[in-house]
Amino acid sequence: MLPYLTEKFGNASSVHGLGQEARAAVDRARREVATLIAARANEIVFVSGGTEANNLAIRGVCEATAGQGRHIITSAIEHSSVRGICEALEKRGWEVTRLPVYENGILKVEDLQAALRPDTVLISVMLANNEIGTLQPIEEIGTLVRAERERTTRKLWFHTDAVQAAGRMELNVETLGCDLFRFRRTSFMRPKEPARFTFAVECGWRRRTWADIRSAKDARGLKVFPASLRLARLRNWRVWR
Ligand SMILES: Cc1ncc(COP(=O)(O)O)c(C=O)c1O
Repeated sequence: MLPYLTEKFGNASSVHGLGQEARAAVDRARREVATLIAARANEIVFVSGGTEANNLAIRGVCEATAGQGRHIITSAIEHSSVRGICEALEKRGWEVTRLPVYENGILKVEDLQAALRPDTVLISVMLANNEIGTLQPIEEIGTLVRAERERTTRKLWFHTDAVQAAGRMELNVETLGCDLFRFRRTSFMRPKEPARFTFAVECGWRRRTWADIRSAKDARGLKVFPASLRLARLRNWRVWR
């Protein structure tokens, strides 16, 4: 990362040599990040923060599928960024079902199945809770969503906010079965600098949305991202074993 802090200040959107160098670093980071979570590089979208990633994913799906239905299923314990988006969408005509969690802080997949409606377009359930640390049954929900899609051949999107899980557990978007997946570097390891870098992954989301990578600052942060994730994973493996 050091060269990006000291000499390689190129704007990754510029055509000049320094800019192209920054662009190459960003693209390399994209490929490395994709490999770490079993996604494809063109499914990775870098954005500026967790709240922005959740907005992009949830609002993006809801706007794109408004003609098919306006029902969202989420949990009652989502991060305030997801709660806020759902409340805003409710004001604009979407209906939101908030699934309860039980004494163990975990929702029941049966409740989710029962809440599914023909006009449900999106399920948004977080992986690890930011206050109590409980892990929701994302893989099971992913399986349910796939089965539902096959049964009804309709569009149904599954978004998971995995911010608090990154670096602490193995993340594989294929196994988890989610379509929109979001996590960030600041949750596990990062250099002490004020800038924050987050990315969302669009798994199976065919309409790609690219977040602009505007400055050398971005290249610098993204360059270190895969390395910090690898390091955090290694460290946690050791603690756990
Ligand atoms: C689970 C979860 N989702 C979303 C966010 C929002 O991320 P940001 O503060 O980067 O906007 C946080 C923040 O800590 C979080 O813990």
